[in-house]
Amino acid sequence: MAGTNAIATVALTLHTLSAVVWVGGMFFARLVLAPAAASLEPGPRLTLWSRVLGRFFPWVFAAIILLLLTGYALVFGFFGGFGGVGLHVHLMQGIGILMMLLFLHLYFAPWRRFHAAVAQQDWAASGRQLGQIRTIVTINLALGVIVVAIGSSGRYWG
Ligand code: HEM
Repeated sequence: MAGTNAIATVALTLHTLSAVVWVGGMFFARLVLAPAAASLEPGPRLTLWSRVLGRFFPWVFAAIILLLLTGYALVFGFFGGFGGVGLHVHLMQGIGILMMLLFLHLYFAPWRRFHAAVAQQDWAASGRQLGQIRTIVTINLALGVIVVAIGSSGRYWG
């Protein structure tokens, strides 16, 4: 039992830290960096976003892998499978997978096109792609806040 508790402690710590990095990073990008960078000329602004997101997205991939590994380690290693978890874990899994699919679309469609357009200094095209990225990040930020509220409070729902 002590070993199981140790695994749960490590898994839950990594799980929560991954959520902090992903959701906190989206919060910073949308609510802090975006308004601060809005007054820059298109060239410097879109180049800045290309560098910022190019550094953030590898962390999002790492967070997703860790959320999945630690989430299922908790479900199967600690709760004895999905029969032993509360509604909050089912909701967390469902909304979490939706967030992951949205991120994969963002990365392989608008982000790829945005990166290529910035390399060609095509500011009109890169601005359009950044708009799509912004829309998906806004949706994922809202979903992420909901998942964190569900995941952290769910065990007390009764
Ligand atoms: C996609 C598959 C996921 C699975 C299978 C999963 C599973 C779990 C489990 C089993 C717990 C422990 C629940 C309890 O102790 O009652 C948990 C907690 C938590 N999860 Fe997830 N999770 C997933 C995705 C996510 C995502 C995407 C986020 C946020 C972006 C997230 C954030 C959290 C948070 C904040 C907690 C609470 C930590 C605490 O306060 O102790 N999870 N998760």
